[in-house]
Amino acid sequence: MIGLGTMGAGIAEVFARAGIGVVAIEVDAAALSRGVGILDASLSRAVTRGRLTAAEQAEIRSRVRPAAGFSDAAAVDLAIEVVPERMEIKREILAELDRVCSPDAILATNTSSLSVTAIAAASKHPGRVIGMHFFNPAPVMRLVEVVSTVLTTDGVAATVSDLARRVGKTPVQVGDRAGFIANALLLPYLNHALHLLATGYASRADIDTAATAGIRLPMGPLALLDLIGLDTALSIMEVLHGEFGLPRYMPTPLLRRLADAGRTGRKAGRGIYEYPNSGSDDHQSGNEHPPATPRTVTLIGAGDDTEAELASAIAAAGINVTRNAAHPSDLVLIAAEAGRPILPAALAAGRPQQAVGLHLAGKLAAGSLAEVVQTSVSSADAVQAGAALAVKLGLTAVRAPDRPGFLAGTLLYPHLADAVRMCQDGYAGPADIDTAMKLGCGYPRGPFELIDAAGAAAVLTGLEAMHDAYGYPEFAPPPLLAEHAAAGIAFADGSRSAL
Ligand code: CAA
Repeated sequence: MIGLGTMGAGIAEVFARAGIGVVAIEVDAAALSRGVGILDASLSRAVTRGRLTAAEQAEIRSRVRPAAGFSDAAAVDLAIEVVPERMEIKREILAELDRVCSPDAILATNTSSLSVTAIAAASKHPGRVIGMHFFNPAPVMRLVEVVSTVLTTDGVAATVSDLARRVGKTPVQVGDRAGFIANALLLPYLNHALHLLATGYASRADIDTAATAGIRLPMGPLALLDLIGLDTALSIMEVLHGEFGLPRYMPTPLLRRLADAGRTGRKAGRGIYEYPNSGSDDHQSGNEHPPATPRTVTLIGAGDDTEAELASAIAAAGINVTRNAAHPSDLVLIAAEAGRPILPAALAAGRPQQAVGLHLAGKLAAGSLAEVVQTSVSSADAVQAGAALAVKLGLTAVRAPDRPGFLAGTLLYPHLADAVRMCQDGYAGPADIDTAMKLGCGYPRGPFELIDAAGAAAVLTGLEAMHDAYGYPEFAPPPLLAEHAAAGIAFADGSRSAL
């Protein structure tokens, strides 16, 4: 293992836990001891949580041998470099490894943003150089992207994939393209979330809550940016933009500013959130809305089941419900439908200042996401009352503007479109993309499973509404999505989308 930062130490732990000896190489003794400290802290945490015994900890630890220098790598079968993302450093390391390692050894790079091909070309034996891309935190996330280049010798990807399986990971084999699968999909979505924050579309806590409560992702995009590091995120976005050139990949200015300011995330104790005790997950999230529940609500809906369900839930919470906008009430609540603005209904009710929408991302169930939709004329009191009502109903409330997709959809639809475009480009098929996002980023369902669950037509409608409203090319629906919507076929069954 060349480089024992957070990722290197995590990967060393993965190998050592699987019974494989690791030679740990760092730039100097201080860096080495810091790296070993990261490994020790992670193993001690597992002992504290009752996941390892002290004896197992000692055994795992004994498999990791801090090395005096590169010459200790002479006998290894595989060298993985996990050093900073600078091509000149990687090239120097490849040259050293060429010098000391046996000709049969495989040389892997964990790069997340540089071209594996360009790194391989720095070796005298580029056929044995491959990408082996792990995810943060490496001991937990199960994906390894195995990245072959046009120079990689036949069989190397299969050997590395077998090894990944042996250490408990799931390999997905891909070609060398910027961001591979997971980062090419994840980073534009995170960047878009930061753009929504920067433009005042929604608050920090609401953006993260929309993703966790609405899309059921393990972390919100802003908290995840802090975990990955804003500097790392910026460099990946720059590489994606350089490779694909599309506006979707342009780093949002706030990302660059935060990185420039050294507010790089958890590792710096400060990023989008503050981490007063470095390393701790200390950001505030969840519900910050004050409880000022309205006593009488005018409910306006489409006369469908959602409206009826909402009416009975509000009544069951002890709040009077009226359907007549002429009756006095504390709040006009519009049962919002995806893809349809609430402003016309708010204006029709005659009291638009007192009107907000309530959009349920899923079922009306405890903890599920409720988007409190505010128009340009909704008063702050009405928005607070709407949020308090949602909380009273046991829902998780976020505020969203009356724009297509509200908040969760605005985050999700372009992300799903990116996945479809990747498949349309022939880079990876739905199954590999779903596996990558589930095992690399902890998604409970992959992008194609999400599309199939919602229906391609619903995702298409959401994207079309965003594209019509903003005119941005990044919201243009990919033809493959439109074809699935028109034919009514799921990606799980679609033969044309199965690469
Ligand atoms: N090191 C080792 N183990 C860790 C850890 C770390 N840094 N963080 C968490 N864990 C372990 C915990 O010890 C715990 O293990 P046990 O169940 O055995 O006790 C387990 O992970 C779950 O941890 P928590 O209960 O503390 O927290 P959680 O359930 O909220 O899960 C999480 C934490 C695994 C990080 C989860 O939030 C998650 O999956 N988040 C998404 C992370 C993600 O997307 N990673 C990819 C980033 S992109 C990338 O890495 C690629 C790149 O090139 C930039």
